[in-house]
Amino acid sequence: MRLQDKVAIITGAASGIGKGTAELFAEEGAVVVVADLPTSRGEEVAAAIRERGGRAEFAAVDVTDAAQVQALVDGVASRYGRIDILYNNAGLPQAFTPIEEVTEAYFERLIAVNVKGVFLGSRAAVPYMKKQGNGVILATASTAGVRPRPGLNVYSATKGAVIAFTKALALELAPFGIRVNAINPVATDTPMLPGFIGDQDLETGRQNFLRTIPMGRFAQPIDIARAALFLASDEASLITGVDLEVDGGRCV
Ligand SMILES: NC(=O)c1ccc[n+]([C@@H]2O[C@H](COP(=O)([O-])OP(=O)(O)OC[C@H]3O[C@@H](n4cnc5c(N)ncnc54)[C@H](O)[C@@H]3O)[C@@H](O)[C@H]2O)c1
Repeated sequence: MRLQDKVAIITGAASGIGKGTAELFAEEGAVVVVADLPTSRGEEVAAAIRERGGRAEFAAVDVTDAAQVQALVDGVASRYGRIDILYNNAGLPQAFTPIEEVTEAYFERLIAVNVKGVFLGSRAAVPYMKKQGNGVILATASTAGVRPRPGLNVYSATKGAVIAFTKALALELAPFGIRVNAINPVATDTPMLPGFIGDQDLETGRQNFLRTIPMGRFAQPIDIARAALFLASDEASLITGVDLEVDGGRCV
């Protein structure tokens, strides 16, 4: 058990990468808080983990709402006495869009979920982690944050911001025993993937993505979950400030 009795909050855990990570963390002994929108399938994800003998609860939260995020983090700290791992994973995609067609409202929405959500979660969890003298903060950034694709302008900017934020926090929090790392998945087979492809034919869009991945396959949620598990575990105790590509060679 690599996360025995660790308390982990995972945002966006009702689906895709977050769900896969919640399942793996629970298998590895963690108490998992499946944090996602109230309209999500988070309750089902948590119940399925419990049915398999794991420990999980659903917490409804909109990561763009400061009061909700604070209440989530305070609630977990008071129920379990600590927060060992915060995985800021919730995010929204962008369909390929020429910059002149990107609306201001869309820009603001993407920044709110993909960037402000990471800030709000981290800000709320850090005081507890400082008090404990340890903790791990993870974020799902993206290969788009280091190797953008044309038409994914705002999305790439949000992920670049997450990577820079991760590195800045890693330096700031290292003296407190808190590690901060990001993961950069390549195109991953989750419900989000069609959201990048947009109006193109789905199969053509998938093939276009696949051609850019040297290892010739999409990431699966478990590929990202395993990277998150390593970074969250004590095996990575000297690793902070990295943005780890899980990308079949795309960023080389
Ligand atoms: N799928 C990919 O190709 C890919 C590639 C690189 C990075 N990512 C990143 O991985 C992360 C997870 O994406 P996924 O592929 O698992 O997508 P997904 O759509 O399967 O899951 C995303 C989850 O985030 C939740 N969410 C969205 N807005 C939220 C909000 N305001 N508050 C709380 N929860 C919210 C959704 O309800 C959903 O359950 C995202 O940050 C995404 O940008 C995905």
